[in-house]
Amino acid sequence: MKIISVVGARPNFMKIAPFVKAIKAHNAKLSIPNIEHILVHTGQHYDHRMSKAFFDDFELPDADINLGIGSGTHAEQVGQTMISFEKVLKAEKPDWVVVVGDVNATLACSVTAKKEWIKCCHIEAGLRSGDMTMPEEINRLVTDRLSDLLLAPDIFSVQNLRSEGVPDQRIRLVGNIMIDTLEESRPKASQLDINKIITDNIINNSSHFSPLTSNISPLTSPLREKVEDEKYAVITIHRPSNVDDKEVLTSLVRFFIETAKPEFPFLWPVHPRTKKQLDAFGLYQEVLDHPGIMLLEPLGYYDMLRLNMGAKVLLTDSGGLQEECTVLGTPFITLRQNTERPVTLTLHGGSGVLAGSDINLLKSEFKAALNRSRMPVKPPLWDGKTAERCLKAILEF
Ligand code: UD1
Repeated sequence: MKIISVVGARPNFMKIAPFVKAIKAHNAKLSIPNIEHILVHTGQHYDHRMSKAFFDDFELPDADINLGIGSGTHAEQVGQTMISFEKVLKAEKPDWVVVVGDVNATLACSVTAKKEWIKCCHIEAGLRSGDMTMPEEINRLVTDRLSDLLLAPDIFSVQNLRSEGVPDQRIRLVGNIMIDTLEESRPKASQLDINKIITDNIINNSSHFSPLTSNISPLTSPLREKVEDEKYAVITIHRPSNVDDKEVLTSLVRFFIETAKPEFPFLWPVHPRTKKQLDAFGLYQEVLDHPGIMLLEPLGYYDMLRLNMGAKVLLTDSGGLQEECTVLGTPFITLRQNTERPVTLTLHGGSGVLAGSDINLLKSEFKAALNRSRMPVKPPLWDGKTAERCLKAILEF
């Protein structure tokens, strides 16, 4: 059997790594390996810190094929991916195309596979926010409508697929593949030092360093305030709805500026899209100069996991972080009106709440989150063995 699996953007790498390992383990048990696997990277994310760093972290072999798509409008990214991926499919003729998540690569490659009459499997099927203004929701709907095999992370996703009329033979509840990576990475991440992560990744703001050495490299200059577990917040935002609208981004930034303090800093690994927008709206320098905000470069997987493990509260619009917070028990606030991951909300036993971009609600939820204690939760089958179940489902289909 020949399988092509596809990655395109940062949140795909932690989902495909366990799948690649599951194929390797499967082949290793046989005297003659019976799965040929080809990894295709569309190249949507291309900076070292957004892509290659994760291949290194997970010891993933380099992609066999990189389509080199890069930045662009949605139509450009999807269209160019389809044109390039079609050539790969015609040359390789795989039995299966496996796509993960909800990025533009997921959409483009599932459509191309089906047009070439190739079976398609979607890992992380059935998530629905109901919000058609999110590019990811469009990607999910199209990919799930076309895929032959839908591997769902939780019972809500299974219900969504059923209610859309997908027959049960095409759906398998397999659990959350990203949690395979989290479970494997926990021991290594827990050994890391928060202050080293900060000094290695901080975007230079000399006010964070001791005065005597502030004009030399941050690596040799100690942080003025040592950051301690449970005494900091982490921010990650990148969704167009939060960062592309000047009013929304400005009000979020005002909240961060009013609330962050040197003794309770906000650590903010900043996504390239967000950095660009902070700059465009004239907010970047003010954030950079704030003594309570530490702007960091995009972090590697282990560093981000370590910050999450020690955070008192996490403010995010990322889907993956909502899930990781739930498993680690970190109280979190989703800076969105809705979520495709209801299993992560306190309402359903998770550790998060929704605040949208309503600043009054955000203020009260932030206060409440400071009083919530860490309560790890594992939804059914989020057990670190999802990748094996995914491969089994493909082999049995
Ligand atoms: C994409 C995904 C989103 C995912 C997110 C995680 C889609 C529709 N969206 O959004 O689901 O949660 O990735 O990061 O696929 N850029 C760089 N360097 C890079 C990558 C991007 O500078 O390595 C810049 C691009 O030039 C672009 C901006 O960041 O201007 C946004 O990148 P884009 O690929 O449009 O999507 P994301 O916002 O990252």
